[in-house]
Order: sequence, then structure tokens, then C-alpha cells
Amino acid sequence: MKKILTTFFCGTICAVMLAVGASGQASDTIDTRKIKAFEIKGDREFGEYLASECTACHKASSGGSNIPVIAGRSVKEFIIALYSYKLKTRRSQVMEMVADRLSDEEIAALAAYFSSLK
Ligand code: HEC
Repeated sequence: MKKILTTFFCGTICAVMLAVGASGQASDTIDTRKIKAFEIKGDREFGEYLASECTACHKASSGGSNIPVIAGRSVKEFIIALYSYKLKTRRSQVMEMVADRLSDEEIAALAAYFSSLK
């Protein structure tokens, strides 16, 4: 019984920590086991090619706008953020539209590229 309780406790805490650590927003609670992009080795060059669409908004510095800087994010954080928009656990009209169209392979590639910056 004690073991079960400990496992449950850690499971819950870890899930919460992962969600909060992902973007600072507790709403990013998604089951990471369902994310296929984690199993794909991102193609950095393909990511760089796809990134031109993103960098129209996402600049190297936010310049005081509400558009966050995404360069230098960890692969994990990046993938979780995009999936949160895909699954609509994180709401943003713009990013839901962007994320909806992206395949797992494209998300993995973009993550590989943006995480390699800085
Ligand atoms: C039209 C402008 C626009 C475009 C194009 C765009 N984004 Fe975004 N993006 C935003 C805005 C605004 C936010 C903040 C949304 C929010 O409040 O959650 C955001 C948030 C994000 C986040 C979450 C960052 C964080 O702080 O957690 C990621 C990751 C991201 N975008 C990736 C991308 C990628 C990858 C592309 C290209 C495929 C892209 N975006 C294209 C405007 C844009």
C-alpha cells in the first residue's frame, strides 16, 4: 500500500512539474506518452527550412511584443508547447492554426532547429 501511494504521489508531482516547467503555464497538462514527435529524430536542416514561416513572427528578441522568443528552447519544451496548441490545452488562435497543420516529423524538425540556436 505504501509503495502504491509513493508511486502515485511521485507520478502526480512529476506530471505537474513537467507541465509547469514546460512553459510556466500550468495549463500545459498533456500526456507526453501520446506525443509521437518525441520518438522522431528531428532533421535540423528541414527545421531550418520550415522555420522561415515562424520567424516572420518569432524574432531573436521579443522587442516588447507578446510574441515569445522560441530560439534556444529545449526540444522537450518546444514539442510540448506545440502539442499544447494542437490539443488546445493552451489557447492561442494564431498558434493553434500553426500547430494544427504541423506533422510530428515537422514538429521534431523545428524543435531540433530552434533548440540548436543561441
Ligand atoms: C502570426 C504570428 C506567429 C507565427 C507565424 C508563429 N507564431 Fe508561434 N507564437 C505566436 C504567439 C503570439 C505566441 C504566444 C501565444 C500564447 O500566448 O500562448 C506564440 C507561441 C509559440 C510557442 C510557445 C512559446 C512559449 O513561450 O512557450 C512556440 C513553441 C511557437 N510559438 C512556435 C512556433 C513555430 C514553430 C512556428 C512556425 C511553424 C510559429 N510559432 C509561428 C505567434 C506566431
